[in-house]
Parts: sequence; structure tokens; C-alpha cells
Amino acid sequence: MTRHFLDLSDAGTAGIQAMLDDAIARKKARAGWTKGRVDADAPLAGHVLAMVFEKNSTRTRVSFDMAIRQLGGTSIVMDAGSMQLGRGETIADTARILSGYCDAIMIRTDDHQKVVDMAKYASVPVINGLTDASHPCQIMADMETILEAGFALPGLKVAWLGDGNNVLASIMEAGGLMGFDVVAACPQGYQPTDEDLARGKGRARVVGDPREAVEGADIIVTDTWISMGQAHAEAKLAAMMPFQVTEALMAAAKPNARFLHCLPAHRGEEVVDAVIDGPQSLIWQEAENRLHAQKAVLRWCFGQIG
Ligand code: CP
Ligand code: NVA
Repeated sequence: MTRHFLDLSDAGTAGIQAMLDDAIARKKARAGWTKGRVDADAPLAGHVLAMVFEKNSTRTRVSFDMAIRQLGGTSIVMDAGSMQLGRGETIADTARILSGYCDAIMIRTDDHQKVVDMAKYASVPVINGLTDASHPCQIMADMETILEAGFALPGLKVAWLGDGNNVLASIMEAGGLMGFDVVAACPQGYQPTDEDLARGKGRARVVGDPREAVEGADIIVTDTWISMGQAHAEAKLAAMMPFQVTEALMAAAKPNARFLHCLPAHRGEEVVDAVIDGPQSLIWQEAENRLHAQKAVLRWCFGQIG
């Protein structure tokens, strides 16, 4: 059966653990190498990854491109606006066409139903590169970063501050699968849905007080207050302001707590410079790990691990 990676639950606990182990091991094995050098075993030689972007991207675009290259394969990167998709060709037809040329498809889009439809009509693996509902590849990199920082996932307390968005939904799903607690502090009107909370399998909850969320937390996470596709709204920014990650909030977490942000950041909005550039921040490692984690996602999709 074709393996799709539309959400973390597609891989399950064992699959995710296998991917994390693989990501960490492969990263170590090529330490110090030039970025374009292919891994010694070139496990995806001869494979082509098609990438379709309906939204902007820096990290996802470049890290997937480099991921498939390091695994021995190649990629074709397309902006939806320059494809027939942008003129109304259906996702279903696009899925069937790309499946005839390429070995896997990664898509970044708005409506999650589009990645579901892409997977339904494709005969090759489909990967969710972010939708309005979730961002599973990002959380694979986040978990790798947390493990590399010396934490264990089970029993961890992750505090989320700000918007109840797609990235939070995937973090809560990860908590449910890997056994860590997620406490999200979000203002009224911007809290995650009950459906998203349920992904946490009882380990995720929402609070209104940022201090309550960060108390005893190992990991503090935030994201932009205005996601791609959302209108810039002064009212939303004002409601979010008490949830800004400040040095005072970091000091209320565990002394060895670490800060994560998927990026791009809006400095002075969801986080202050002193935190994002401070000693507890792991953002550059987190961003680099998109590459390593996605190599494992690609290998999982092709049944090589997990
Ligand atoms: N974090 C993330 O997905 O970044 P890009 O939007 O640059 O891909
Ligand atoms: N929540 C953000 C994440 C960007 C990587 C967005 O959807 O725009």
C-alpha cells in the first residue's frame, strides 16, 4: 500500500520513532560534509520528488530539495500559480499526471482536503508540506531538535503561546502519539478546536494564562500570529500581545527550558529578540533539522524505515 504522510498519525508512534532515530543517525553520519554530497548509501537514487507550492516557502522548499538530493534523488519544484492547477485543473487530475512522471509528491496548500484528495488520486506517496490544518514535517524537525537537546519525549511538558493554529495542531498530535503534554495559552477566539485538542489524546489542554502554560515547561513554542492566507488584523495582534514570549515568561519555565519557533518569525510580535536570539533558543538547529527529518519522512514513505 502507498504510504502517505498527511499527518503524524499516518506514521504512528513506532513510525515516528523510527524516523527520528534515522534522522539523527544520518545527520551524524554526514557531519562536516558539503551539503550537496550524496549520503554514502544513496537510498533514493533514481527517485524524483515533485513539489507543489500554493503558498510561499523558504525552509520547506529548500530542505525538501536538499533532502531528496542527499538521498540520491532529484526534485521538480513548481509554484501552483504557474501550473495548470492555478487555472483550475483539478487536484485529482494533477495527482494522476504527477504520479506518471514522479515518484513522490509534496504539496503545500490552504485547504487540508486538497492534500487528502491528492493522496486519494495519486499512485505515489503524498507528503503534507503545510495546510491550514497541520504542519507535520515541521513537528518531525521539532522533535528531532528536542531529542538532540537531551530531552526524552515521554513526560515532557511543551508550552505553546499565541495563536491556536496549524503548527499547534501538529504539536498536539505529536504529544498524543509520543507521550508528552502540551499546554497551549491562547486568547479567546483564537483557541484550537475541540477536534485539534482531541489529537492530543488527553495530553493537550488550553489555558488563558500564559504563566500557567510556561510553569514547569521544558519547551516553549510560538509561531506567527497571522498565518499565510489570513488577513492582517489589528484586533488579533492586540489580543495576542499578552502571549508574546518574553524573557520574563522564559524565566517562569524550567531553568533549562528551550525555545522553538518554526519560522519565519515576526520579531517584536510573538517573540522578543532577547528570547529568539538568546541562549535558550534552538531555532537554527530546528530549521536545519527540517532537512534531516524530511529525509527520514521520504525514506518512510518509500517503506525503507518504520
Ligand atoms: N517553517 C516553515 O515551514 O518555513 P517555510 O514557510 O519557509 O517553508
Ligand atoms: N502558521 C504558519 C506557519 C508557517 C511555516 C502559517 O501557516 O503561515
